[in-house]
Amino acid sequence: MNIAVVGLQWGDEGKGKVIDYFAKDVDVVVRFQGGNNAGHTVVIGEKKFVFHLIPSGILRNNKISVIGNGVVIDPKVLLEEITFLKKQGIYISPRNLKVSLLAHVIMPYHKLMDSFREEERLARIGTTKRGIGPCYADKISRCGIRMVDLINPRVFSLKLKDNLREKNLLFRNVYGRKGISFKKIFTEYSYYAKLLKPYCCDILDFFYKNRRLNFLFEGAQGTFLDIDWGTYPFVTSSNTVSLNAVLGSGFSGIKIDRVVGVAKAYTTRVGEGPFPTEIKGKRGGYFRSRGKEFGATTKRPRRCGWLDLVLLREAVKINGITEVVITKLDILDELKKIKVCVGYRNSKVKPYIFSHLKKISPVYKTVKGWCSSIANIRSYNKLPREAKKYILFIEESIKRRVSHISVGQLRDAIISK
Ligand code: IMP
Repeated sequence: MNIAVVGLQWGDEGKGKVIDYFAKDVDVVVRFQGGNNAGHTVVIGEKKFVFHLIPSGILRNNKISVIGNGVVIDPKVLLEEITFLKKQGIYISPRNLKVSLLAHVIMPYHKLMDSFREEERLARIGTTKRGIGPCYADKISRCGIRMVDLINPRVFSLKLKDNLREKNLLFRNVYGRKGISFKKIFTEYSYYAKLLKPYCCDILDFFYKNRRLNFLFEGAQGTFLDIDWGTYPFVTSSNTVSLNAVLGSGFSGIKIDRVVGVAKAYTTRVGEGPFPTEIKGKRGGYFRSRGKEFGATTKRPRRCGWLDLVLLREAVKINGITEVVITKLDILDELKKIKVCVGYRNSKVKPYIFSHLKKISPVYKTVKGWCSSIANIRSYNKLPREAKKYILFIEESIKRRVSHISVGQLRDAIISK
């Protein structure tokens, strides 16, 4: 049984915990896109783990974690993550962590370019400034540096020289900044290469040999940050949807049996871009403070708003979702009334083509809250009637089964429905 887990909103849906939950039933967990712009949080007892690159499956014993072709890797961040996890007593070795030779490397000039572009742009995207967009741009422009290039000193030296010639011209002549030196980067990144080399492997060979195992494909960000299906240009630079799980992992001979969509019981987004159900001003503070809605990667306060069922319905279609997990239902505990967006006044407006529209007017339905704590409930039948009605309403609107409900940060705070 192969599973893909993807976000149905603008990221931060709580996928880390859901992936950790489903990882117990598979053998291999694969990241297939994005980079350290992602931040997946898993809380086990007193310990909180935040992953940016390593698949969240690493926390489960006897699982193999794979960083696939479609991921962009900041080698320094990957090494820091390996060191941090080892210090926490998590077993990591080339036996259980495999990095694709074909994954592209985020270089210092990508991070600089990300910042410079944001500063110069008339309409800012609000990127994480981790160099994600410029790294993917170089991949498509065919001047990127892959892990296989990084670990080969001769190739790395040639490619780095070539890149720096172009980047330094841009930095000096277009952005009016200082250029960067070959020697410093070459020395630093050759050191990272030496440490990461043992983890690098031919991912197709690995997949092919292990094709009878069970795989989980771990999506990062969310459907509406997808480069094609998102609210372009306010998106990330990769395909975040389930369709990319196969291509981005580097494993073409596989069928995905379950596509699990993760959605928060309300909506958040970081960065710029349209957000029809956003609660502006102080009122959005309820979700922000109760839901601790601050970016796991950049610590930026997230924009917060009501659940948008238009988004969810479209995301179900785009990803071929077979079941949905609703997270952070407990955050709604104190609300007497809960608003849910059931449509937009202009029914022709679609989330993926509305980024040019200034105002999208949501049509809301108001439902009764449950006004009690559900954080300790572990069985669906024990949920308050209003909470069950909220879940039922979502199911009917999106025409998919809600299979699990998360009611807290802890690993066991999940209700199987
Ligand atoms: P980038 O991925 O750093 O280029 O940022 C592009 C947009 O995607 C910005 O609005 C970011 O805030 C957003 N973004 C990127 N990664 C995440 C994530 O993991 N969660 C939520 N938003 C993200």
